[in-house]
Amino acid sequence: MENQDILTKDIDETRQGEALEMAAKGGEGKKLYIESYGCQMNFSDSEIIASVLIDEGFETTKNLEEADVVFVNTCAIRDNAEQRVRGRLDIFRKAKKANPDMVIGVMGCMAERLKTKLLEEEKIVDIVVGPDSYRDLPNLVRVAETGQKAVNVLLSREETYADINPVRLGGNGVTAFISITRGCDNMCSFCVVPFTRGRERSRDPKTIVEEARQLFESGYREVTLLGQNVDSYLWGGGGLKKDILAKGDLTGTVNFAELLVMVAEVDPDLRVRFSTSHPKDMTDEVLHAMAKYENICSYIHLPVQSGNTRVLDIMNRGYSREWYLKRIEKIREIVPDCGISTDIITGFCTETEEEHQDTLTLMQLVKYDFAYMFKYSERPGTLAARKFEDDIPEEVKGRRLSEVIDIQMQNSLESNRKDLGKVHRVLVEGTSRKSEEKLQGRNPQNKVIVFPRENYKVGDYVNVFVDDCTSATLIGTAVK
Ligand code: SAH
Ligand code: SF4
Ligand code: F3S
Repeated sequence: MENQDILTKDIDETRQGEALEMAAKGGEGKKLYIESYGCQMNFSDSEIIASVLIDEGFETTKNLEEADVVFVNTCAIRDNAEQRVRGRLDIFRKAKKANPDMVIGVMGCMAERLKTKLLEEEKIVDIVVGPDSYRDLPNLVRVAETGQKAVNVLLSREETYADINPVRLGGNGVTAFISITRGCDNMCSFCVVPFTRGRERSRDPKTIVEEARQLFESGYREVTLLGQNVDSYLWGGGGLKKDILAKGDLTGTVNFAELLVMVAEVDPDLRVRFSTSHPKDMTDEVLHAMAKYENICSYIHLPVQSGNTRVLDIMNRGYSREWYLKRIEKIREIVPDCGISTDIITGFCTETEEEHQDTLTLMQLVKYDFAYMFKYSERPGTLAARKFEDDIPEEVKGRRLSEVIDIQMQNSLESNRKDLGKVHRVLVEGTSRKSEEKLQGRNPQNKVIVFPRENYKVGDYVNVFVDDCTSATLIGTAVK
């Protein structure tokens, strides 16, 4: 693979809002162009998609105009995520006018949510594929090339793509994602993911450790273990978690804390991160593993969604405000230097002004280092859409969101100021976006740190003395 190129565009204010166009040129065969939207799991899936098609002799391209096959890997988490994809389809429509043989495929969560309806609504689409059917892509492309529409939106109880070696197209050669579970069994009432990604299943730990080892051997220095709820990971020789638990015997099973340790032991110089943790399932065993292994990064993304117990209850989150705060206390006790971030939704159905205030006071108690914040967006088919009215006016949702953002801006700045005057261990990921003379990387707590390049290079661990900051970045100089 030569001439790899990446373009990262900011298309949303959120973690979900990054688009990555992955590409490489060269050789013969048909050319594939992929764009990805949504969460890290979707980006990880695009690497599986590319791998499946490269095995078929495809090459990837960053140039839409020269593509034979154009794929967009989509997100359905909020309405604006879907609108953005529809906007991209308009652009693809123009490209297809110039090249009528172009095959256009929609994959991922929006494909799974809309199924064949997508073919009716967007005439330009030739292929619709859900997240569990990527092995079928070569076949679907062949069908589409004959001028027929091709659809596979079957969800699986087993598929984990465990044996597929993802093509690391969009990366920096230092940090990589590894999916450890697929699907979600939680049924939070606002959330579309259980419908678009199916039942939760865990991947064979041997294949996870092997992937981490191979990455380390080819120069990678950080892996992020991915799942909608990593704490729920449970391997028992295959099958759904509920089937493993039903047996009532956990001998020979591997839980998340044990998996973390297995990956951490690949090499002390391989950093291990994970996302996302769930407040109802995060165990002390995981925290103790973090405290024991220096290479398991002291950082937890622990989405709270709301600071009010009644709202959490109708969200079906499975914990109360008090339970959540106790989990935070435990993190601070066992992993004192832990960075903590969260997700918050404002204006969920029936949320009162007082209940919104509870979210603000919780934020002040926890003092998150970072947060992803959203207005509630009703998703068709979810429990909330069926049971509750989306009754908070747009402007109230928006005002509550800006209050949440204001508090977080202050807290992020405060958190960064606490890091001044200290030395941080940084894994260098690349050149600073703002200056060629500077490098950037992250400390274990996941904060971005920028410092003068000197003779350091991507992939180095560097001790950086931090003496300046913005609300988003720490700034410093390397020390010996
Ligand atoms: N599995 C993760 C979340 C995945 S979705 C967890 O349970 O925490 C990422 C975030 O998107 C969620 O944490 C939530 O804050 C937000 N989100 C999900 N559905 C939403 C909706 N309908 N409207 C607004 N935000 C939503
Ligand atoms: Fe959605 Fe809840 Fe599952 Fe997260 S845990 S993916 S919010 S259903
Ligand atoms: Fe979006 Fe699907 Fe991820 S809905 S957030 S791409 S699991």
